[in-house]
Amino acid sequence: MYTVVTGVAGFIGSHLAEAVLRRGDRVLGIDCFTDYYDVEIKRANLATLLESPSFELAAVDLRNASLEPLVEGAEVVFHQAGQPGIRTSFAAGFADYCSHNILGTQRLLEAVRTVQTPRFIFASSSSIYGNALSYPTREVDLPRPFSPYGVTKLAAEHLCNLYAANWGLSTVSLRYFTVYGPRQRPDMAMHRIIEAALLGRRFQLFGDGTQVRDFTYVDDVVGANVAAAGADVAPGTVVNIAGGSSVSMLEVIELVAELAGRAVRVERGGSQAGDVTRTGASSDLAREMLGWEPRVTLRSGLGAQVTSAYEMAGK
Ligand SMILES: NC(=O)c1ccc[n+]([C@@H]2O[C@H](COP(=O)([O-])OP(=O)(O)OC[C@H]3O[C@@H](n4cnc5c(N)ncnc54)[C@H](O)[C@@H]3O)[C@@H](O)[C@H]2O)c1
Repeated sequence: MYTVVTGVAGFIGSHLAEAVLRRGDRVLGIDCFTDYYDVEIKRANLATLLESPSFELAAVDLRNASLEPLVEGAEVVFHQAGQPGIRTSFAAGFADYCSHNILGTQRLLEAVRTVQTPRFIFASSSSIYGNALSYPTREVDLPRPFSPYGVTKLAAEHLCNLYAANWGLSTVSLRYFTVYGPRQRPDMAMHRIIEAALLGRRFQLFGDGTQVRDFTYVDDVVGANVAAAGADVAPGTVVNIAGGSSVSMLEVIELVAELAGRAVRVERGGSQAGDVTRTGASSDLAREMLGWEPRVTLRSGLGAQVTSAYEMAGK
């Protein structure tokens, strides 16, 4: 089976591509290596993939590359490429978020519509909910993004839905809730807390630490994508993908300290625009429509991330 993974050099895309390669797919990975974080980290994320003769890399930008020849013949396109992060989506940063997340997605949708790709999976985000009106938040709840990033992910999700409605394109949008695990992006809180613990540096905490998050282990996100690729669902399906934890940042700091066996020195920064107070999803629809539910607890997933960070630091 021929499979396309965009954003393949990133945190989630690289894990997903490894998983579908393992099950025997021929995989084309697309990435333009944005400099949002160190490009060397992205190259390292590809190391295992590049060892496989069934993997090919197209180092192109979705915003301007000719995409039809790349997706032609694919059974499924997993669209993970995007400009992530909340804080830098304000001010001048917004232009990049619009072009990578909205234009990039629209160009890819045009290509898969033209070649009639049987299934298109989009990496959406819990950020589309903003400060949700109710918890656990359900897919039918009103999206009210609280950051420009969330606005661009919601716009891209709407693009998927309207390509589904107009042309019957078989899209599934997966709304990921804070994803963590080995190779997590270096700007994300857990990565920075673990780094602070291992290197004895201070961790800069935004806000007062009482923000609550629903954390999702990366292998569970990969499992959700694989389930969404094979599920018998209607075009334009939208589903929450969440790990089921309801944990504050202060509790995460404590857990990292315990797992790493080292104290985490915290430096308090101000609260950041765009940061919501709480995320927490209902996974009922994912269970019903995809037959998916999270398997990895926060303690074991975070343990794996700490171990992997130790190994990397030891190299
Ligand atoms: N990590 C999370 O907690 C989380 C939560 C919700 C949604 N998401 C979404 O999941 C996806 C993957 O997130 P991640 O954490 O792995 O991010 P990441 O930054 O590690 O990976 C994204 C990759 O996409 C590539 N990319 C960006 N724009 C591109 C373009 N125009 N053409 C080709 N490649 C491009 C980047 O170079 C990068 O390697 C993103 O779309 C993100 O919005 C992530």
